Amino acid sequence: DKAAPTIIVIFGGTGDLTKRKLLPAFYNLYLDGYLPEKFAIIGLGRTPLDNGAYQEKLKEGLGEFSRRGKPNEEQWEHFKSFITYLPSDVNDAASYQKLKEHLDHIDDQWGTRANRLFYLSVAPQLIAAVATNIGKVGLAADAAMDRIIVEKPFGHDKESAIELNRLLTRTFKEEQIYRIDHYLGKETVQNILVFRFGNALFEPIWNRNYIDSVQITVAETVGVEDRGDYYEGSGALRDMIQNHLLQILCMVAMEPPVSFDAEEIRNRKVDVLRAVRRLKPEEVHMYAVRGQYAGGWLQGKKVPGYREEKGVNPQSNTETYAALKLYIDNWRWQGVPFYLRTGKRMQEKTSSITIQFRPVPHSTFPQSKVGSLIPNRLTINIQPQMDISIRFIAKRPGLEMNLQPGEMVFDYDKCSTQTPEAYETLLLDTMQGDATLFMRADQVEEAWDVITPILETWATRDSLDFPNYAAGTWGPETAEALIAGQGHVWTVSP
Ligand code: BG6
Repeated sequence: DKAAPTIIVIFGGTGDLTKRKLLPAFYNLYLDGYLPEKFAIIGLGRTPLDNGAYQEKLKEGLGEFSRRGKPNEEQWEHFKSFITYLPSDVNDAASYQKLKEHLDHIDDQWGTRANRLFYLSVAPQLIAAVATNIGKVGLAADAAMDRIIVEKPFGHDKESAIELNRLLTRTFKEEQIYRIDHYLGKETVQNILVFRFGNALFEPIWNRNYIDSVQITVAETVGVEDRGDYYEGSGALRDMIQNHLLQILCMVAMEPPVSFDAEEIRNRKVDVLRAVRRLKPEEVHMYAVRGQYAGGWLQGKKVPGYREEKGVNPQSNTETYAALKLYIDNWRWQGVPFYLRTGKRMQEKTSSITIQFRPVPHSTFPQSKVGSLIPNRLTINIQPQMDISIRFIAKRPGLEMNLQPGEMVFDYDKCSTQTPEAYETLLLDTMQGDATLFMRADQVEEAWDVITPILETWATRDSLDFPNYAAGTWGPETAEALIAGQGHVWTVSP
């Protein structure tokens, strides 16, 4: 569907996210015919630039970061006419007055009041100033037409997230607030719901009676890159688990929603977070493991340790790896461990979900074959590989009765040549006013609540032996021990 006339205002218009993600997403939506005819992007930033120079910067970004590569000249000429730049200072009331005039002017030209999307791609400490000033000048006064999109991190802990939610709701209604978790826009993550609720096969066995354990891994090969300053105050638990991994957990564990309505989906997800067992401080060491990478070799290249990275304290105790064992206290999941882990500078870039089923209740086959009777396993590969596979046992062709594992695979590459980027999906949703894939205030607060005991215990920084894993490995040894207690091993490991 084409959206209504829309103006996108990007605070942080000269930033990295705009260049790498937002602009390429809008451009692809344009090429695919999803943008309304009346459409405008207004970039805001402190740097003095004219429209031409700003457009040129964004064009370079397209060449570098768009899934489609360099833009075609003719199409770019048309697309760039949507883009203007407004030098401004987020702390200065006059800038918002100027923005208001600009917005009103576009409305006059179009002869209609356009929908307004305010994209906050700014440092967390600036969100309050922007939101408050938008409110003061009355830029987003129409709750049905105006929306604010807020990037992560959403708060630094539970208290600050509550405070931020409170502040935003002084100016915006909850339905106007779109809190981005870009993992929710990934094709393969969206497909979890279709897989579970579009097929009758899996849901009946999707519970403690048939499932032994669940693993969610998000492993990256990149280090902290040039984000040392931010990452030092964050760490893997805040940067990845509080948002992306817990959101994936919700999709895997939620009860069947009655409809695809945004509130319904988000209600079912928040139910999961509420049911996640809270750890007592004295239990944290049995359920959570942290790590920090040392220098090492990764894909044939020597890479520095975290403490040697730019913007990082040489004695830093920030974790670049975290693994958790969680339990969900409800009927469906009682007793089933959910293992979550994420780390930087791991051996391979891979994000996947593994559902490990229980063994068959009784072996029909001779004792000598029992060893081959390994339990079924369902793997959902999120990225870079995108597929769903089921491991099952089959007869090895031959005159003897031998068993061997086989795989049934659903491969995304076979059904699509160009998969949209997460930001394309999410930006289109914000234009269409669909908040299903965005985090509601209560979800964010519950997710913080889940990790609060770990954050607090880790903040005491006792007995750390950082760095404790070499770049190019699968993380600290203690992470193996975390799950070995239940007889489990990480499914993606050396
Ligand atoms: C971001 C984190 O939210 O997600 C980064 O801040 C991380 O540290 C990134 O690298 C991973 O996203 P993706 O889409 O590359 O898996």
